[in-house]
Amino acid sequence: MSIGRDIQGKIYRAGVFGHRPVVPVEPAALEAAAHEVMSPQAWAYVNGGAGQQRTVAANAEAFGRHRIVPRMFVDVQERDLSVDLFGRTLPSPLLLAPIGVLEMAHPEAEHAVARAARALGTPMVISTQGSVPMEDTARALGETPRLYQLYWSRDDEVVRSFVRRAEAIGSDAIVVTLDTHLLGWRTRDLDLGYLPFARAEGIAQYTSDPHFRSLAQAREPSTEPTPRPTLAAVRALLSMARHYPGSTWANLRSPHPRAAVETFLDVFSRSDLTWADVARLREMTTLPILVKGIQHPADARLALEHGLDGIVVSNHGGRQVDNAIGALDALPAVVAEVGGRVPVLFDSGVRSGADAFVALALGASAVLLGRPWVYGLALAGEDGVRAVVEHVLAELDLTMGLVGAGSVGEITRDLLQS
Ligand code: FNR
Repeated sequence: MSIGRDIQGKIYRAGVFGHRPVVPVEPAALEAAAHEVMSPQAWAYVNGGAGQQRTVAANAEAFGRHRIVPRMFVDVQERDLSVDLFGRTLPSPLLLAPIGVLEMAHPEAEHAVARAARALGTPMVISTQGSVPMEDTARALGETPRLYQLYWSRDDEVVRSFVRRAEAIGSDAIVVTLDTHLLGWRTRDLDLGYLPFARAEGIAQYTSDPHFRSLAQAREPSTEPTPRPTLAAVRALLSMARHYPGSTWANLRSPHPRAAVETFLDVFSRSDLTWADVARLREMTTLPILVKGIQHPADARLALEHGLDGIVVSNHGGRQVDNAIGALDALPAVVAEVGGRVPVLFDSGVRSGADAFVALALGASAVLLGRPWVYGLALAGEDGVRAVVEHVLAELDLTMGLVGAGSVGEITRDLLQS
């Protein structure tokens, strides 16, 4: 049975007994339901974009410029959604985009997301702004593939430490996000005066990091007592000590929260990096390195010239530059520039299986799903993430069948009218 018919069947059979999906299937209804249960701050942070929200709108509008033209009488009884990426065969071309501060959506945060990803075999891109140390997320993922998303800290030792930890948890690749070395002008968050990181939310990769802890401890206020380490903190360090030679009993205790926040704000990122710095990151790891946030074909060319192993076309879901090009509009030129030499992944605006189909038809090697699974998380934790991903995969499978594409490789540009 295909995933499309399987999920359809489950929903319709339950419907006979009066049950309707807890997590709405229709993307706009999903968004509205999440809005109802999320705090105003969480909603602004997750749903909001930069400035006048024009890039958020452009991401959605761009899909409307491509229409699928279905083919008939094609044997699509068996449909294969698998793709090969970085030496692995993945069950589908869908990955979970890196999303930070998940504790705002649900207290189980990455624990719930990782369990859902594991149930479906869907790879997860673990965020540097996570709410849970990457080692714990990795444990919950089991054997499920994971990539690690890196924000390039001002402190290279933090970068080195994150990369080492990412290797230790079995990441398939490092995804360096280039578009957020400064935070965009996020009008909705500004109007609420709300930045999660300033409240010590979404900084768990840092506070669980031995090198970061040393930095934070160095600036702790000497007059205030530091909180006693929690059992979770002790456990985290013990597990990390296995992988990280720099961990000591001295940095066992969690840093004072205020010192942690101040140190985070100091080291979060830097705006002086250039393509020449790629070589330094390359020296730190043998893993494939992808760059996320590419929108200009000239940057795609530079990425290739600097030996990068993959590109993620993305505008960060319209959260960074207002009135930026819709990400889907940026995709074809990047795909043309890359010419198949490295994988080109895509995100920003994917809301459904039909959207994923269009991005694949325009040449994306795989697609990252973003906000929708966070809405599922907010609504129903692990089950919610799982439901959202299942709905997207089901529609992709049915769209492939109805359009006459028996495999992802058969999702080609000639199936679109643009
Ligand atoms: C993000 N995104 C993101 N990207 C990244 O590289 N690291 C991160 O920590 C985050 N955090 C984050 C938080 C929230 C709340 C959102 C909505 C997005 C960007 C994300 O990976 C992806 O590029 C966008 O979500 C794609 O846009 P859509 O499809 O979600 O609209």
